[in-house]
Amino acid sequence: MARYWIDYLQEVDLDAVQAVDAVSFSTPWSRATYLQELRSPQHHRCVGARFSAQPAIPPAQTVSTLRNRLRMLFRPLPVVPSSAGSLIGHGGIMRTAGVGHITTLAVAPQYRGHGIGALLLLGLIEQAYDLQVRRVELEVRVSNHHAQRLYTTFGFTCVARIPNYYPDNGEDADVMCIPDITTIAFREYLKARSDALSLRLQRDKAPVPLVPALDQAES
Ligand SMILES: CC(C)(COP(=O)(O)OP(=O)(O)OC[C@H]1O[C@@H](n2cnc3c(N)ncnc32)[C@H](O)[C@@H]1OP(=O)(O)O)[C@@H](O)C(=O)NCCC(=O)NCCS
Repeated sequence: MARYWIDYLQEVDLDAVQAVDAVSFSTPWSRATYLQELRSPQHHRCVGARFSAQPAIPPAQTVSTLRNRLRMLFRPLPVVPSSAGSLIGHGGIMRTAGVGHITTLAVAPQYRGHGIGALLLLGLIEQAYDLQVRRVELEVRVSNHHAQRLYTTFGFTCVARIPNYYPDNGEDADVMCIPDITTIAFREYLKARSDALSLRLQRDKAPVPLVPALDQAES
């Protein structure tokens, strides 16, 4: 049975990350930018969504805090070494001035529409708790209705518009935020969302990887 899970990105993932970005963004981040983020975990957290067609592997001896926490969040999903799956999406969050800022989120095109974006967003919000922020914000292109809809389903609302935000075409950005992720109501919502998503990912048959460049060596 195919399996999906998330854990921290590592430097070894960057080729796969950049392959996803190349087909997701008109101005992808450089490798240097990702390296900077990966090397400052006190302010930045980068998570990856992974896929394996193999059955679950028993937990690694050194299971990361994130994987432990996500195992609790997505109890039915397996905990496996990060080298055992293909990277199919990724996201990042940065703490700045006490606010969690979602810096990037992308899913490989052939995996979209199966809940992987929502899985990553859950992982990023989990990291927001770990970074001890209440408010979570992001910018999204005004034309990116698909992403806006994903964010709206998590309770993000549009609080501002920044004109000419994107340098490639001068498009405006909507600023979306969740003002307080620490409320009981929001935590209950997250729990319900993660339970539903976990069931969906178990029963949904997302396609197997089609793009060799996105595959990590299975070991
Ligand atoms: C935005 C993105 C990350 C979403 O990833 P995804 O894996 O397709 O998202 P999901 O499958 O979890 O979908 C989550 C929600 O988005 C919405 N959605 C999904 N597919 C959609 C579609 N084709 N059209 C409109 N809305 C859609 C739905 O509300 C969906 O919720 P549902 O599954 O309960 O119906 C992905 O489309 C992507 O990588 N886009 C390019 C990069 C990008 O724009 N990143 C965001 C930058 S701000």
